[in-house]
Amino acid sequence: MLKGRSLVEPGDFSIDELEALFRLAEQIEEDGAYLRESCRGRLLATLFFEPSTRTRLSFEAAMLRLGGSCLGFADPGSSSASKGESLADTVRVAACYADAIVMRNPKEGAALLASRYATVPVINAGDGGHHHPTQTLTDLLTIKRLRGGGGRTLGETVAGLSLGFCGDLKFGRTVHSLAKALARYTGLRIVFISPPELRVPEYISRGVLAAAGVEYQETGSLETVIGGLDVLYMTRVQKERFFNEEDYIRLKDSYILTAEKMEAARQDLIVLHPLPRVNEIALELDADPRAAYFKQARYGMYVRMALLASILGVVSC
Ligand code: NCD
Repeated sequence: MLKGRSLVEPGDFSIDELEALFRLAEQIEEDGAYLRESCRGRLLATLFFEPSTRTRLSFEAAMLRLGGSCLGFADPGSSSASKGESLADTVRVAACYADAIVMRNPKEGAALLASRYATVPVINAGDGGHHHPTQTLTDLLTIKRLRGGGGRTLGETVAGLSLGFCGDLKFGRTVHSLAKALARYTGLRIVFISPPELRVPEYISRGVLAAAGVEYQETGSLETVIGGLDVLYMTRVQKERFFNEEDYIRLKDSYILTAEKMEAARQDLIVLHPLPRVNEIALELDADPRAAYFKQARYGMYVRMALLASILGVVSC
């Protein structure tokens, strides 16, 4: 049961709980009308200490579509954090007003700390370069929907798949969360594609994947591996997490996925991206049926509806 639970990292929910959540999200996608008033009178606090478009809007859209309401801030400058209030106090106060808290914060570990102080469930909407579990739910649901079919579970869907992660694998929290979530399944293969400076941290590659027996490979060349992939997860170079601008400028154009590069890819490849995109996927690709990133954004709203309805206890999941 997810009622009353916080979500700090993907492993907080069991594999069975995730499957149930995806089934609910799929039902909502098909016809969510039965939940339209289910959260009437409930309040969601959205505390965003870092910029966001999709995550905040999709949480707000999800809550509004369930009949609930939202309050919060999108700019820490307008909150009492700018007066020196501690995070613990901010979340304790938000918990006095709201039934659940969604929080994004630039500090790794902030969501865990918040979940310890808040008396209502806390959902991590990104803590620095660490985790982004609801983006992971979005990514997993997208893979299940687009590569699964026929009622297959996520575990059955990913068995046998080759999944490539390309771009800034060092700072990209969506990559860290998704790789960690995938490590709980068997039979899949991961290919990390990045410049040497932006390699995936060892705590993920060796600490999580190797420890779980997941087969993975690291390379600098997208061209040589693209033909063997079932899923290609592109990411933006995370400018805001660089220590100096020269490094960012040198690395920002490391990978640009173009229609020409896609010629070597399989016809049933799906290209994902958590968005925002800068220039790592050429605009010409948006018309390619393999480009799935806007569908992915839509699935993000369904899975957040399923998550909110579950943790608020209006459905039993
Ligand atoms: C991601 C994030 O904030 O980590 N965006 C998102 O939530 N969809 C990816 C990014 O900012 O590059």
